[in-house]
Order: sequence, then structure tokens, then C-alpha cells
Amino acid sequence: MDIRVFKNYEELSKAAAELIVEQVKNKANSNLGLATGSTPVGLYNELIKDHKENKTSYKDVQTFNLDEYIGLPNTHDQSYYQFMQEKLFSHIDVETNNIHIPSGNVEDIEKECERYNALLKNNPIDVQILGIGTNGHIGFNEPGTPFESVTSKVELAENTRNDNARFFDSMDEVPTHAISMGIQNILEAKQIVLLASGANKADAIKAMVKDAASIDCPASALQNHANVIVLLDEAAASKL
Ligand code: F6R
Repeated sequence: MDIRVFKNYEELSKAAAELIVEQVKNKANSNLGLATGSTPVGLYNELIKDHKENKTSYKDVQTFNLDEYIGLPNTHDQSYYQFMQEKLFSHIDVETNNIHIPSGNVEDIEKECERYNALLKNNPIDVQILGIGTNGHIGFNEPGTPFESVTSKVELAENTRNDNARFFDSMDEVPTHAISMGIQNILEAKQIVLLASGANKADAIKAMVKDAASIDCPASALQNHANVIVLLDEAAASKL
């Protein structure tokens, strides 16, 4: 793993944006794997700024999101579909048809998982952006998930629901399940860029980097990938 530590969140977001802009400049039809959550918001803001100032184009880029809550319609303000529209897609020139997010609001979730797995097989991801849960999850692959997992319906761990409760009016409204790319899908990306900021991520980062790879820390599966860049602020790196 190529671990890079930055003074603060702003610097780490800028560094992440530089990697993505370079990727898109080198390969206009890049396949980008994207994440939601608080961590990549700074990166998305930098991409929007760059798109406005330097006209980097996403016209031929395809995007593949990691996950979506089950049971929230696309129109729900906490659906990851809406999140991506608000935080990135509506501000850049990505084509609607090139945006791929698993749907958590279909009758047949099994079929939706098969569709998403086939889509990923046919469109290998060039760069996958990841955040990390305080429990070491990547995507919504919670501790205990086999490293061979592919896109499936997953149950959110209690501490993940607690971590995400800040976005909902009450705990009851926090979804219990999601559809998530599996760890194997993530490992199939040509390059992985994981971002983490804040002292609450320090234990998970330590388990990912220092401990032997184990299903107890899903992010430790990245130790088996040849091209991983980890961008941390000083607080997230504090236990390394
Ligand atoms: C988001 C995702 C999650 C988050 C993780 C960290 O698509 O798959 O794994 O990356 O929960 O979330 P934040 O960034 O909000 O701390």
C-alpha cells in the first residue's frame, strides 16, 4: 500500500482530486468507482471546481457507485442516488446514461445484484474511490464478510447505523439493509484510492495497514491488491 499522510482534510481532498483529474485526462473514457459518505465530499468539491476552472470533461466517463440503501426511493434526500446528484453529478458534464448506482428500491433485489455484477464484469473499474467505516467496512461490507463476496444484499452493522444516524431525523429511519458491491468486485478495480480523515478512523486504518488481513477488518483485504493508494490526514494516521 502506498500511504500518503496530509496535514488536514483539505490537503487530502486536493491530492485525491489530482489523482482523479489525471486519470480522466489520460483516459477520457475512464470507469470511475465512486463512494458516498462524508469523506469524499471534499474530493467532489475539488472535482467540481476543476471542471469549472479547467474544463476537465466527464462526457465519456462512466461511474459505478459502491452501494445504496434498500428501501429508500431515488427521490429520498438520504438515498445515495440523491447524494451523488447533489454532491457531484449535477455539477459536471457526466452523461446520465453513464451513471450506475445499484437500485435499492426494486422488487427483485437478487436480480438487481446479478445485473450489477454483470455490469462490473463488463466494465472493469480503472480507479475505485473508497472511504472506510469506523469498524473497517468498505462499501457496506461489514466485518465477517468473506473477501470473495460480490454485489449482494447486506445487513448494516449496528455501529454503521449509529454512525449514519446523523443524516436521518431518527434512528428508526436509518435503513437496516443495503445493496453493496462485494469485496471481490472492489479488488477487481485496477487501482484503489482509499480516503480517511479524523481520529475516529485511526483504529480502522491501523487494522487495515498493520494487522494481518482478516475478515474482522474488511479493508484489510486491500493488502492483497497491488495498486492501492491510501490518503490520510494526520488524525486518521495517528495510530500507524
Ligand atoms: C459509502 C460507503 C461507506 C463509507 C464509510 C465511511 O459509499 O460505502 O463504506 O465510505 O461508511 O463513511 P464516511 O465517509 O461518512 O465516514
